[in-house]
Amino acid sequence: MKLMSKPQYEEWTASTRDARMQWWREARFGMFIHFGLYSTPGRHEWMQVYENVPHEEYEKLADQFQPKEGAPREWIKLAKAAGMKYAVLTTRHHEGFSLWDSKVNPYNSVNYGPHRDIVREFVDACREFGLKIGFYTSLMDWHHPDGWKCAYDLEARKRFNQYITDLNTELLTNYGKIDILWYDVSLPMESWEGWDSVARNQYLRSLQPDIIINNRSRLPEDFGTPEENLKAEDRDWEACMTFNGISWGYVDPEQAAPFSYSAQQILHMLQKCTSSGGNLLLNIGPGPDGSVPADAVEPLTKVGQWLEKNGEAVYGKKVPISRTGVLGNGLAFATSDENNAYLWTFIWPKGGTMSMGGYLEAPKKVYLLQDGTPIDFEFEGQRITFKNLPEKAPDKICGASVIVMEFDGAPKTLFASRYPQFHQGWDKPENYI
Ligand code: GLC
Repeated sequence: MKLMSKPQYEEWTASTRDARMQWWREARFGMFIHFGLYSTPGRHEWMQVYENVPHEEYEKLADQFQPKEGAPREWIKLAKAAGMKYAVLTTRHHEGFSLWDSKVNPYNSVNYGPHRDIVREFVDACREFGLKIGFYTSLMDWHHPDGWKCAYDLEARKRFNQYITDLNTELLTNYGKIDILWYDVSLPMESWEGWDSVARNQYLRSLQPDIIINNRSRLPEDFGTPEENLKAEDRDWEACMTFNGISWGYVDPEQAAPFSYSAQQILHMLQKCTSSGGNLLLNIGPGPDGSVPADAVEPLTKVGQWLEKNGEAVYGKKVPISRTGVLGNGLAFATSDENNAYLWTFIWPKGGTMSMGGYLEAPKKVYLLQDGTPIDFEFEGQRITFKNLPEKAPDKICGASVIVMEFDGAPKTLFASRYPQFHQGWDKPENYI
């Protein structure tokens, strides 16, 4: 394979990105799954480092690692019920333990513990429930003898870079079509050159031509990964969030429950991501036997029920068109989907009326997304005023009701989209009253 230079590689990946990313941009919502030896003690996925656990002591966890039969299927069944469209599994976290039948890394779940290929079970479950498949792959490795020596010893670095390439070759060769490669923590080297990322990613893309790669191999690649925050980027981005703001790996759900997200909070995150042109990758940390943490089941199930009725406001092509502060205390965000603007209301107005300012044209019609109930409205002075609204929030699942405003063509508003990739140029001075 003729090796491209970095500029050539980045020009090539940019020219092919829209086609590769289309399904991802419309999928919006995915499940992150952190599962490994750290799940057994349940004291955070960085426990080995935080607690200075010597290798020989930590390696004992490999035989205690006993995920029950069907655990990966349980994760993906819940992801499907939650309305998630893809899933990303930690195939090998910083601890260096591979959850697949690796010939490159004997420290794996077939040689130890369950003596099963967990990655295979994850892939099979994703295919059964129709979810796209993502592999998380850590660059940092606390177990491999060259995992840290590569920082200063060039021979160790060559060996370790080859090891990383070989691990990911197994993953992208042995499990059929894989959709996402999710790198993490590029340390100790702190440059794409140190990781040989241009050559490696070119090669891995040759194995899976449609694969989407995140920005954590010291190259921007296909999407940004704001972590534990929803800060929008002016490129494709995906916010990765723990379920509780405490740990990616399993921690006692009872103690974590007060910090875990409710269905309403998950919807609020989903709305922020949708309205700002990004995705939400929400994590679960399965327990020692692989069970889904109890505090995640009810909120995710409710979000899925909500999405069954209101998914049109989330999935598919969305263009952020305005950030509207309605009611003074409840923010609503509208996104346009071709001709429709979706107004999410978490605080339902009292008194039966509410207005949306900043629209240059009247909608053709306005209705509740959940059941199509028409909503009366007037349009005057760039202001849409809804009338005769129900006294109570129509959505009984999560109290998040979506009003659809259907226009003749794309909605024209005075709010220029903050994100260059979506700019429509209607915010010209002559449009301002
Ligand atoms: C951070 C953590 C790592 C976790 C990752 C998820 O890199 O160090 O443990 O897997 O975030 O994005």
